[in-house]
Amino acid sequence: MTKVQEAPIAGPKSVALFEEEQGYLTPGLQQIAVFSKLAMAKGKGAVLTDEDGKEYLDLVAGVCVASIGHGHPEYAKALAEQAANITVGSFTTKARVSFCRRLMPLLPKGLDRVQLYSSGAEAVEAAFRLAKSRTGHFEFLAFWGGFHGKTGGVLPLLGDTSFKAGLGPLMPGTYSAPYPNPYRCPFKNEAPHDCAAHCLEFAREYLKRSTTGSLAAVICEPIQGTAGNVIPPAGWLKGLKEIAHESGALLIADEMITGFGRTGKWFGVDHDNLSPDVMTVGKGVAGGFPVSGVITSAAIADSKPFANPSGSSSSYGGNPLAAAACDATLKILSEEDLVENSRKVGAKMLERLQGMKDKFPFIGDVRGRGLMIGVELVADKKTKEPLSKDKCRALFEEGLRRGIVTMAYSPVIRINPPLNITAAQADEALDRLEACFVWLAARG
Ligand SMILES: Cc1ncc(COP(=O)(O)O)c(C=O)c1O
Repeated sequence: MTKVQEAPIAGPKSVALFEEEQGYLTPGLQQIAVFSKLAMAKGKGAVLTDEDGKEYLDLVAGVCVASIGHGHPEYAKALAEQAANITVGSFTTKARVSFCRRLMPLLPKGLDRVQLYSSGAEAVEAAFRLAKSRTGHFEFLAFWGGFHGKTGGVLPLLGDTSFKAGLGPLMPGTYSAPYPNPYRCPFKNEAPHDCAAHCLEFAREYLKRSTTGSLAAVICEPIQGTAGNVIPPAGWLKGLKEIAHESGALLIADEMITGFGRTGKWFGVDHDNLSPDVMTVGKGVAGGFPVSGVITSAAIADSKPFANPSGSSSSYGGNPLAAAACDATLKILSEEDLVENSRKVGAKMLERLQGMKDKFPFIGDVRGRGLMIGVELVADKKTKEPLSKDKCRALFEEGLRRGIVTMAYSPVIRINPPLNITAAQADEALDRLEACFVWLAARG
């Protein structure tokens, strides 16, 4: 497909700032920033405004970070007040106690302890230390297509080989099994078939044959985010917990994306009525402030060396400013009923997108839970071959021209707006996205 020659995407102020910054930064910034060349000036709810004054409806939310939207006044006030008082140190603060009080009643049954960190990968690594401390084991099982961060300890878990190619040898003792993707069954079975049962059977057998019998944890995303908001069939998570426990291991649910209302319930595991042994959280928990966490039970948390003084801590984890961000975010999520908004608006968006599937030859699959929706673009509905990257990129650019920020540069568009997007804004965003699909269809 020829490159689009229409109006440029980013305005002159954006481009000037972007190009200056490119002279300072290493390569490797997120694709959305590099492809768009946009410099963002501000945001309000689900609306972003760039340095040239153009507005966009945000269907990305900083990849699920902006749970309470942009520029929330109560959040800004809470952070400013905390910044004026105390920002640093691990001493107890009212903000951290208040956050914990709000958090505990929301957690799956049996989970009642939390430790805070600063990035997702760091929390996953901490969860691994906890699992080793608890079980005395040292091996880990993850899943194809999974994403848990890019630090050394979690790099081998990545389902997308492009992140780890050339970086070996990776940490030993980690294994990956197929994730039950109903649209792209890893066993290439035609429907009807029990993809979840096949995947569970494979994982059980694989652990027996491939590990040394010292499994510390099984880690999974309740819905795979980076892989394209892939929803496993009901029952898979429960089966996985059984497999983990048969091996004397813990089940870690990585709720970095699915946590804090993204899927229309507080946590992704709530859809399966399941309590994992450990949850890792981040992103939406603090509305943009870099916070992540490990959540578990008191019994599991009390495992050494994790539980030794300074054994689970870090320099910034849960510091006063981070705690204030968590506390304000949780207050806003609860008081503004944003989990319910995620469920309601997400269901409407899903219904409209599913209607578009029959209209366009390149929409292969639409699935979603709450405001976590995946739209698979394919070159051919029968073969399911993904749509070419240049067509996706053209779609992404057309979206920006029409005032929507999307992840359409990938053949699986992940639709994850802020949880306070209104029904009217969601409808308007889908009008614009549909216009992009019409535009793409017209260009063959
Ligand atoms: C499920 C999941 N776990 C962990 C991470 C890593 O988070 P971070 O980028 O903050 O290290 C991500 C990031 O997208 C994620 O989606």
